[in-house]
Amino acid sequence: MGFKKIEAIIRTEKLDEVRMAVEGVGIVGMTVTEVKGRGSQKGILLEWRAGEYRVEFLPKLKLELVVHDVDLEKAVEALSAAARTGKVGDGKIFIYSMEDIVRVRTGERGRPAV
Ligand SMILES: Nc1ncnc2c1ncn2[C@@H]1O[C@H](COP(=O)(O)OP(=O)(O)OP(=O)(O)O)[C@@H](O)[C@H]1O
Ligand SMILES: [Mg+2]
Repeated sequence: MGFKKIEAIIRTEKLDEVRMAVEGVGIVGMTVTEVKGRGSQKGILLEWRAGEYRVEFLPKLKLELVVHDVDLEKAVEALSAAARTGKVGDGKIFIYSMEDIVRVRTGERGRPAV
């Protein structure tokens, strides 16, 4: 049994919904970073009367959550359901193996430190 890091790129306006959804399955700790990114649509094409231009990178949020293996599936399900609109740009979830976790205040390691 180990831990995973969930790195999720989501729409900025979905943060509260995602936070509440993962809290609903018992996941509280997370890190949020403002990022810019692009997916398969290569940014977005804006059309103006004067012509069109491409915005190559769009603002997104990156969430990082470290969870125990037994909590992984419910966390990913809650997160993706809350982040989904069904339109392009809903984001992506990357899952990494994690070696260990230390709670700095107590020195706890592993599961109690999550
Ligand atoms: N292959 C990738 N590697 C790293 N980051 C990615 C990758 N694909 C998407 N992202 C990140 O996720 C954000 C949202 O991507 P997006 O949801 O548009 O992916 P997509 O593959 O184009 O899917 P969709 O067709 O549903 O839009 C991007 O702005 C970028 O930050
Ligand atoms: Mg896209």
